[in-house]
Amino acid sequence: MSEDSEWIMACAAEDIVEGCAWPVQLNGQEICLYRIEGTVYATHDRCTHGNANLSGGILDGHEIECPFHQGRFDVRTGEPTMPPCVQAIKTFPVRERDGAIWLKLS
Ligand code: FES
Repeated sequence: MSEDSEWIMACAAEDIVEGCAWPVQLNGQEICLYRIEGTVYATHDRCTHGNANLSGGILDGHEIECPFHQGRFDVRTGEPTMPPCVQAIKTFPVRERDGAIWLKLS
């Protein structure tokens, strides 16, 4: 398998607007995309504290605030930054190319 074949197209680049959390389904996984200062980041969309979608939360700088109990994660690393969240969320490599957002899920 070539390096390029590991990347999966998630959506059009223009769909991911600055400062928003945008949900996508890819290979059966719920993923949230964020554009912050022009760079796109990707995490699992599901909070590790409970059954909440982070795409329904509020993006504040590089942190996404969960809509259920206001726990937070750094979307660059997936690390929790505010209780009650203590377990990291998974992050995915992202690249923007040919007008699209590509993710590496493995
Ligand atoms: Fe996300 Fe509780 S479900 S902080």
